Parts: sequence; C-alpha cells; structure tokens
Amino acid sequence: MSDKKKVYICRMLPESVVSPLKKEFEVEMWPHEDQPVTKEELNAQSKDAHALLTMLTDPIDEDLLANAENLEIVSNLAVGYDNINLNAAKKQGVVVTNTPDVLTDTTADLTFALLMATARRIPEGVDFIKEDQWTTWSPLLLAGADIHHKTIGIVGMGKIGEAVARRAKGFDMKILYHNRSRKESAEREIGATYVDFDQLLAESDFVVCMTPLTEETDGMFNGEAFKKMKNSAIFINSSRGKVVNEKDLQKALEKGKIKAAGLDVFEQEPIRSSHPLLELDNVVALPHIGSSSVETRHKMMELTVNNISNVLNGEKAITPIK
Ligand code: DGY
Repeated sequence: MSDKKKVYICRMLPESVVSPLKKEFEVEMWPHEDQPVTKEELNAQSKDAHALLTMLTDPIDEDLLANAENLEIVSNLAVGYDNINLNAAKKQGVVVTNTPDVLTDTTADLTFALLMATARRIPEGVDFIKEDQWTTWSPLLLAGADIHHKTIGIVGMGKIGEAVARRAKGFDMKILYHNRSRKESAEREIGATYVDFDQLLAESDFVVCMTPLTEETDGMFNGEAFKKMKNSAIFINSSRGKVVNEKDLQKALEKGKIKAAGLDVFEQEPIRSSHPLLELDNVVALPHIGSSSVETRHKMMELTVNNISNVLNGEKAITPIK
C-alpha cells in the first residue's frame, strides 16, 4: 500500500491537468468523461480518499462524508456547490472549495448569448434555413424582440450577475436588480437600481435568474412570480434549474403569460427531448454550458487541482467556501 495521500477524481480529466497531482499523490480517476461516477463507486473510493475532486453531478451527502474518515477536502469543479452537504462537511472538518472568479465572464457571456438567442429567435432561424423553409425575404419573418434600451431585471447580483449587468449596459439597457443585500459597486459603476422582487418582475422586459440554489431560492420562480411578469417578458435562467418550478413555467409559456424562456439549467439534468418544455417553440434550451469555454474549463480544473494540492500539503485552500 502506498503511503501517499489518495485523491479520487470523479470524472476523466485531461492528463495535463491531472499530472501535477500524480507527482505528489496517489490518484485514482473515474474512467469516463461523459458519465458521472456511480454512487457505489464514489462511496467505495471515498472511504480511504484524502481528497475528492467532484462535479456538480456528484452528490456529497452526510452518509458519504461520515464514511470518508481520511477526507480533508472536497474540491468542486463549479462555482455552485448545492451538490455538497456543507454542514456535514464542516462538522467533519472537511474543507470544501469551488471555482469562483475564473468563470465569471464566460458564464455572463453565455447568459447574454442565451438572452439574445431567445429574444431574436436565433435557433428558429437556424432551423428555418437548414430545413429549406426560406422562400423569400418578408417583412415580419422571424421577428423577435428588441434588446437595446429595454429593461433587464437581474435576480442574484453576485459576481456573474454584475458581469451580466455590465454587458446589458453596453446595450443601453435599464438595469434593475434584486439581491439579498444591496450591491453599491453595481449601483455606482454600472448604474443598476435595487428593487424588490415584485417590482423587478413587474417592470422587466428580461428577467434573468442568476441566484444560487438555496433553501430560500428553491422554486422561487413559480406561478405567482410568472403572473407578475409582463406578457412580453422573456425569462432567462443560467443558475440552477431547481430555482424554477418548471411546471409553472411551462403553463406560463403555454398560456402566453410570458413570451419566451431561455434555459441553460433544468430541475432534472439531463432533460430529455420528450420533456413538455422542450416541445414549446418559445423555449431556447442549452445543456448547462454556462462556463463551458475551453479556456475557462481549464482554469477551473487547474483551480480544483491547486486547491487539493494546497490542502493536502497543509496549506490554505485558495477558494474555500466560507
Ligand atoms: C457552476 O460553476 O456552478 C456552473 O453551473 C457550471 O457550469
């Protein structure tokens, strides 16, 4: 048996990312890139692991933590960490880290791209031309909604929310936001205005959900919330699917209570094509790719690896969750 500390990596990552860890530690890795580690394998591997490098698809619950006697760190490859029972980790003295900052602009880019694609009906246009439906130019062909000079309402003004607001400023939009607390920097530097949730829903042309999933935000976009939005409103979600009640969203879209939705995240992932939401023309859906640029995903992977190396060497984590 090796006397090196053991790191278990829950998804196959590139060798260039993993090799620094291999120099210092015993490294084991789930051998699939496109399939999450099974619960049985994760439980078995955790028993003697000193570090886990996890994805948002890996639930790290109380039972797993209780059986992982050597565990010093769970290093999550995401800024969100709703897959990890933080209280249980804290009780056992296990450090939990995430990947903030490195993904802020990339996720804001995707959120704004999704907003634009939904407003201007870009996926419909792509299908239209590929399916040879284009016969002539016509005055209202695939006419969408304007973005410039409209009102955007950002719910959850963290770093990514602020980055979305900066993009909206470039489009001369009026920026409203709602957050647990006021963000004076966003008000001063971007000109964003703090409003309560109901006012944001009532006044926004684009309601953009950027809030993390917590007990308070679980299901906050429900039938009541959709009812308060304009009929012309477009709803965008690139945070977590469970912040939205999808049945209520579906009804709101079907009944024309809101105009359209752009969704990068879902209650149940992966969502299947038979899901009623995906049958609606006014839904633009993406497979949870907010932070997925080659550059950013590499920076995120490097950060997870460096957090592990620091903690297993008795140093401070770079991005611990407080
Ligand atoms: C995150 O980092 O939480 C994102 O959802 C992953 O793309």
